[in-house]
Amino acid sequence: MNLSTRSPGSAGSGISPIWVVAAGLAIIFGGLLIGSFAPAILPPQASAESRQIDALFRFMLAIGGSIFLLVQGMLVYSVIRFRAKPGDASDGAPIHGNTTLEFVWTIIPAIIVTVLALYSVSVWNSTHSIKPNEQTVGAVGARYAWTFNYQLDARALPSGVTLDQLEPNIRAAVENGGLTLSSTQLHTWVNQPVAVSMNTQDVNHAFWIPGMRVKQDLLAGRTTEIRFTPIEAGVYRIVCAELCGSGHGNMAGSVDVNGNLVGAWLIVHESEDAFRSEFFDPLARAALFPPEDPVERGRQILASGVYPCASCHVVDDLGWNGAVGPNLNNVGSRAATRVAGESAEEYLRISIRMPGAYLVPGYNNLMPQFNAEPGQPNYMPDDDLDAIIAYLLTLKTS
Ligand code: CUA
Repeated sequence: MNLSTRSPGSAGSGISPIWVVAAGLAIIFGGLLIGSFAPAILPPQASAESRQIDALFRFMLAIGGSIFLLVQGMLVYSVIRFRAKPGDASDGAPIHGNTTLEFVWTIIPAIIVTVLALYSVSVWNSTHSIKPNEQTVGAVGARYAWTFNYQLDARALPSGVTLDQLEPNIRAAVENGGLTLSSTQLHTWVNQPVAVSMNTQDVNHAFWIPGMRVKQDLLAGRTTEIRFTPIEAGVYRIVCAELCGSGHGNMAGSVDVNGNLVGAWLIVHESEDAFRSEFFDPLARAALFPPEDPVERGRQILASGVYPCASCHVVDDLGWNGAVGPNLNNVGSRAATRVAGESAEEYLRISIRMPGAYLVPGYNNLMPQFNAEPGQPNYMPDDDLDAIIAYLLTLKTS
């Protein structure tokens, strides 16, 4: 063989088939090895769906890993094998295509993409299918917080509570199928299929629970859904995955998967009872028997998360640590002196109904306007507002 000309056509002729087979096996097993790293780069699996999603991911990572090794291997091989000899300044031989190669590099990706598409569709269909006995939770995204809503109807009253004990307006709401309980956390229990039905009050957001492997956009004017079945007790992070404004990075929440009765002998029904007694019943009792005292009621309303204040403000008493808006720990002390001629109560009322009216120095006009009319976005009834103001006025630094 004449080595003085570098002809690509003759390049492969010197390679033993044993080397080709060895390289092929190295690429395939190398891809599988890369795919096996998947669990190391993902959070622990917390939902039944995460097993299927991770298997699909590992499969794609193995294929991608093999292609990576093939391309990089060819690159390194070519750099060494076809390097210019000292003093050789000639061009390489011109190449006018290779039908066999082009056929191979078209048909192989076509097969890979077809297999991935079929596999992905089957995982999608399985993870998105409606499960029997689902717990339905409403999720509302609003800059910059998540609120979760649970329907309380007459069949789900806490034990010992009867309809006769309720005030007429609350009783009517329960009987009409809809007293909505709100929480800043999504509460559920192990092995309970959850269907989350999502709406946004303002711009698009994205609901992402990395541990459950679910992510779904919230679209203005539409209701979107996501489903998962928790398999491990714990508290899991919820993250907003759609850039929605300056507080996007703070738009976090959590899923609390009740695990008090988790064990090898776990019975779903017992876990549901634990969920009811620990989370649902106290929330239901608070909503069914609202405190008379407006300060107590205001505190209860804010603590429920029905308004998304927690993500932007600090209130130590409620465990809020938002960093976007003014700290409210001392708002009861300074509200009276903020604007000349406005009482503390009026100042707070205007600041909630028209947040842009009196901005605290150093803060931008980011807060949503809370409106007084039903049907308007961010509806806050006057009753709620009065109670919230009564509570805020008690927040004073000593
Ligand atoms: Cu909501 Cu980002």
